[in-house]
Amino acid sequence: MQTRQKYFNLTNNIKMPMVGFGTYLIPNEDAQPLVEQAIRSGYRHIDTAEAYGNEEGVGLGIKAASAAVGISREEIFVTTKLWPGNEAWGQTPKTYESTIAALQASLAKLQLDYVDLYLIHAPFPQTQRLEQWSALVDLQQQGKVRAIGVSNFNQTHIEEIKTAGLPLPNANQIELHPWSQKPALVSYLTKKDISIIAYSSLVPLSTWRDVEGQGSAKTAQMKADGAGADSPFKLMAKKYGVSEAQVLLRWGIQKGYAVLPKSASAERIRQNIDLFSFEIDDADMAAIEAMDRGEGVAWSSGDPTKAG
Ligand SMILES: NC(=O)c1ccc[n+]([C@@H]2O[C@H](COP(=O)([O-])OP(=O)(O)OC[C@H]3O[C@@H](n4cnc5c(N)ncnc54)[C@H](OP(=O)(O)O)[C@@H]3O)[C@@H](O)[C@H]2O)c1
Repeated sequence: MQTRQKYFNLTNNIKMPMVGFGTYLIPNEDAQPLVEQAIRSGYRHIDTAEAYGNEEGVGLGIKAASAAVGISREEIFVTTKLWPGNEAWGQTPKTYESTIAALQASLAKLQLDYVDLYLIHAPFPQTQRLEQWSALVDLQQQGKVRAIGVSNFNQTHIEEIKTAGLPLPNANQIELHPWSQKPALVSYLTKKDISIIAYSSLVPLSTWRDVEGQGSAKTAQMKADGAGADSPFKLMAKKYGVSEAQVLLRWGIQKGYAVLPKSASAERIRQNIDLFSFEIDDADMAAIEAMDRGEGVAWSSGDPTKAG
C-alpha cells in the first residue's frame, strides 16, 4: 500500500495535504477512534465543522494519535468551519462578534490554539456575509487561524468580497465529482488563485451515504446508475486494479483538488488515502469530463443556499 501524502500550496507559506479525512456524519463519540485511525493510516489533514457537532471528539482523536504516532501539532492540518446561521431556518445570522466567539468555542472544543484553515460553511446570510468575512480576515491577522476560506460560495459571492475591497479567500470547499464538475466556477477560482477543496467525491458510488437518515438530494436513478457491473467507474477500477472509490478520489487529485474522503471503516480509511500508486490515463479523464450532470446533491435540497 502506498500512502505517501502530496501537498499543494494554499498560500505562499502554507502547505495543505491533498488528502484529508472528512468527518461529516461521524458522531462525536465515534470521532476520536476514527480520527485516530485516520492519522495512524497516514492522514495529516482533518476536516470538521461547528455544525458537525464532533469537534470535541476530533480534537481528542488528534491529541491521542499525535502522541501515539509521535507527530507535532505543526504536522497536522486542521480545518473547521463557522456555522453562519440561516434566517430561512429560523437561525440568527452570526455577527462580527459572534463569529470571533464561534472560533474561540471551536478552538476550545478541539483543544487547539489555532486551526490551519477556517471556512464560512455556506453563503446564507446575505446581510452578514461581509461582516463574517471581515471577522475571518481579522482572525487570520491575529494568528488564530493560518488560512481563511469559504465553502459553497459561487462566483457572485466571491465577487462581493472583492468589491468590498477585502482580501480574497485562500480556498473554496465545494461539491466536486464526475457528476458535478462546475467548470465555470473551477476556472474562475483557478484564475483568482483560490485553492479548491472537493467534498463528497464519492457521490457516484451506488452505496454513497446509503445508511438510513443520511439525507441528500441523490435520486434512486443516480443510485441505480452506479450499481451495474458495467458502471464506468467499476470498469476503470478493474483496469487500474483499485476500487471505484480510489478512482473517484484520484480524479479529484488529478484535477488539482484536495479531497476529503469520509469513512467509518478502518479498511476504507486506509484504502482512501492510497491514491498515488496509479494514474487515470488521458482517455479516461476525457471520458469522465463528459459525465458532468451539473449541480451537486450532497445538501438535501441539492442547492446549498436552500439546503436542509
Ligand atoms: N463544506 C460542505 O458543505 C461539505 C458538505 C459535505 C461534505 N463535506 C466534507 O467532505 C467530507 C466528505 O464528503 P461526504 O462525507 O459527503 O462523502 P464522501 O466522503 O464522498 O463519501 C462518504 C460515503 O462513502 C462511503 N465510502 C467511503 N469510502 C468508501 C470506499 N472506499 N468504498 C465504498 N464506500 C466508501 C462512506 O461509507 P462508510 O462511512 O460506511 O465507509 C459514506 O457512505 C465530509 O465528511 C466533510 O468533511 C463538506
